[in-house]
Amino acid sequence: MMDPGVFENPLREGLRLELAAEPCVAVIFGASGDLTKRKLVPALYSLAAQNLLAGGFSVVGTARTPMNDEAFRTAMRDAVHRYADAGPIEGAVWESFAAGLFYTPTDTKKPESYKKLAEVLAKIDRERGTAGNRLFYVSTPPSLYSDIIRLLGATGLNRAPNGGWTRIIIEKPFGEDLQSARVLNREVLQVFAEDQVYRIDHYLGKETVQNIMVLRFANGIFEPIWNRRYIDHVQITAAESLGVEDRGGYYEQAGAFRDMIENHLLQVLAHVAMEPVSVLDANAVRDEKTKLVRAIRPILPEEVSRYAVRGQYGEGLAGGEPVEGYRQEKNVSPESNTETYAAVKFIIDNWRWAEVPFYLRSGKRLPKRVTEVAIQFRRAPHLLFKHVASGHLEPNALILRIQPDEGISLNFSAKMPGQAINIRTVRMDFQYGTSFGKRSPEAYERLLLDAMRGDSTLFARGDMVEMAWELTMPILEAWQQPASHFPNYVAGSWGPKEADDFIERDGRRWRRP
Ligand code: BG6
Repeated sequence: MMDPGVFENPLREGLRLELAAEPCVAVIFGASGDLTKRKLVPALYSLAAQNLLAGGFSVVGTARTPMNDEAFRTAMRDAVHRYADAGPIEGAVWESFAAGLFYTPTDTKKPESYKKLAEVLAKIDRERGTAGNRLFYVSTPPSLYSDIIRLLGATGLNRAPNGGWTRIIIEKPFGEDLQSARVLNREVLQVFAEDQVYRIDHYLGKETVQNIMVLRFANGIFEPIWNRRYIDHVQITAAESLGVEDRGGYYEQAGAFRDMIENHLLQVLAHVAMEPVSVLDANAVRDEKTKLVRAIRPILPEEVSRYAVRGQYGEGLAGGEPVEGYRQEKNVSPESNTETYAAVKFIIDNWRWAEVPFYLRSGKRLPKRVTEVAIQFRRAPHLLFKHVASGHLEPNALILRIQPDEGISLNFSAKMPGQAINIRTVRMDFQYGTSFGKRSPEAYERLLLDAMRGDSTLFARGDMVEMAWELTMPILEAWQQPASHFPNYVAGSWGPKEADDFIERDGRRWRRP
């Protein structure tokens, strides 16, 4: 048996950080799927290459596809080669990592499969010193979640042998509406305790989203102005230039609101708007975020058209090339009612944010891929430079660029050189790339490592997930009504005209990032 305390990355001996995870086995349900190949295994490999995984760390991939360990290792090598961004595969690191990769086929509905899995895990514990520690990762189609959770419980895999720990990561979507999210929460909590459950939202693993808390709470200058006295409104944008690609089947059931706003953007909003915590602890942070979401004013069914807008792209351009409309994409109905663009205005009913609107928007086939939070400050109270056209005096804005080109900038007015007073908006800029000169880890690296270390701060808690669905339901229900105006934006544009009208009614404009 290998000594679990000794990591096998021979190239980085001695570099183990105190952040490193305990030895464990990660069991991936849905191992033949896209996420495993594009994100999970490349992220695990990157952690190994950074010496953050314990010696003996192992992965058991499982799915319906028959495959042996060797074939799985080969497929994962290709995946790491293609998708890991931690640099080229290092021979010795790969060899050591690959020795811990196993595959066992499973029929998720059959108890025998789980018994077999338990045997495989026990063998790995014996041979690789993983001490009974298990991290289950459920990354299958959501229709299989219930069976997997129930049968893990029925076969005793929800409790670790030999005093080890067992945790379960559940991929999004966590439910497709309030009702199904409640059922799923109930099912999970019948088998696992809340502190074993890690509901993943990969936006929380993004370096720049984590930095929102650091910006707010490690600096003295922002928090005093982080409120209704100084802030006019906040815009949170997640724009994508891609269409739905080959995910039409899933997207038809989801739509932009469920896919991006209900989870990712609401989480970002919670980080921007929550109250400070007194200690950095998973439940303290999640309590504050939950309190914040609870303070968001519910949108009544009859008010949906005042608070939310939907759109769907028709044909247009992407990267200068002509592209089809959404209704012509693979696995999409030619009469589809699904929104590929959504925008919403949330009002937070608490002292800090009273009457400060938070505008959230997300869409596919917009002009570029960009995610940002724009904190738009109030205008200067007295206009001294009256001869300057007021349109030229932009209010100050603090822009948190989540991706790409991660960083933060502050826009303010400055005098242009010359005898006359001409004023222009300039930008003070911080860029991750140039300031730190090192890559930001992939979101999944951080989240997988945290789950292995038992830190759930960056995972969604059950109560917040249900609250997010509660807020969302009136909008989704109203949008069941056929959208006779679809498609209503051209692929490659900034979304439907209705979205511009929506924010302009409040005397504001969308930023063009
Ligand atoms: C996923 C959505 O959760 O997030 C996708 O299902 C979307 O539709 C993706 O493209 C965006 O993630 P990222 O990390 O590329 O911003």
